[in-house]
Amino acid sequence: MIEINTLQEMNQWTQSKKKEGYNIGFVPTMGFLHEGHLSLIKRAQQKSDYIVMSVFVNPLQFGEGEDFQDYPRDKKRDKALAEKHGVDVFFYPRIEEMYPRPMSVSLNVHHGVDVLCGASRPGHFDGVATVVMKLFQIIQPDKAFFGMKDAQQVSVIQRMVNDFHFNIEIIPVEIIRENDGLAKSSRNVNLTISERKEAPKIYETIKKAKQLAKDKQMTSAAELELWTIEQLKVQLSGRIDYVQVLRFPDLTAIDKLEGKIILAVAVHYERARLIDNITWKQN
Ligand code: PAF
Repeated sequence: MIEINTLQEMNQWTQSKKKEGYNIGFVPTMGFLHEGHLSLIKRAQQKSDYIVMSVFVNPLQFGEGEDFQDYPRDKKRDKALAEKHGVDVFFYPRIEEMYPRPMSVSLNVHHGVDVLCGASRPGHFDGVATVVMKLFQIIQPDKAFFGMKDAQQVSVIQRMVNDFHFNIEIIPVEIIRENDGLAKSSRNVNLTISERKEAPKIYETIKKAKQLAKDKQMTSAAELELWTIEQLKVQLSGRIDYVQVLRFPDLTAIDKLEGKIILAVAVHYERARLIDNITWKQN
C-alpha cells in the first residue's frame, strides 16, 4: 500500500493505472475505521483491480455547533487497518489543498434533502456532495462504495452521479452491526457507558416496526412512525431527532405502506448523534 497526500500525485497514479486497463474502486471515508468501512473494502476487492481509500474529515459537511472538532481521528490506526485489509492507495489529502480558499462554486442539493438528516442538518448534503464530487474528479474511480447506514447519502450521491453524467457505478453496501445490533459507527466511541448500553434498542425497535408492517398489523406510514417514536421514547435517554417512513430510494412521503420502504431514525446523545435505518419491500 502507498500513501498519497497530494491531488496531483493521486491523479497521476489513477491515469497510469487506467492506461494499463485496470479499474479502480473507491472507498471514501472520514477515517476512524470500523468494520463497516472494512466491509466496503471487502466489497471493493470483489469488484475492482485496485482500491483507493480516502480519509478526510470534511469540514464542509459539519454545521455550526456540530462535532467537527470532536470527530474521532487516528491516522496511524486507519493506515494500518487499510493496509491489512488490502487497500492499494491510502489517500490522505491536506485540508489546505482540498479547500485552498472558500469555494466560489459549490453544490446545492435540492432534492431528497427536506427529510431525515437533510432536514435536521441544513447544508450537510451540500458539503457531502461537494467533497465527493472533488474526490471523484481527483481519483476518477470506476466504482465507489458507500455504506447503507447513510442511506440518504447513497441516494444523494446516486442522483449527483446521474445529474453530472459521471461514469461511476455507485455500490451501496449493507449496514454492519455490533453483536447486539447497534450499527457500527465512528461516533459510537463518543457514547457514555449507559448510552452505549441502551443504543441497541434503536435497531431492536425498527426491526420490530418492520415486522409489524410485514404482518400487516400496521398499514400506514404515520401509524408506524408514531409507534416507533413511542417505543423509542420510553427506552432511550437520548433525544429523538427524527423517525421517518419514506419511499426508498427516492425518499418521498408515503401514506400507505407499500413498495420499497425505509424506516430511518436519528437520536442525539450527549456527544454523538446516531443514525440507523431498515429498508424492505412491502407486498
Ligand atoms: O460517509 C462519509 O464518511 C462521508 O460523508 C464521506 C462520503 C466520506 C464524505 O465526506
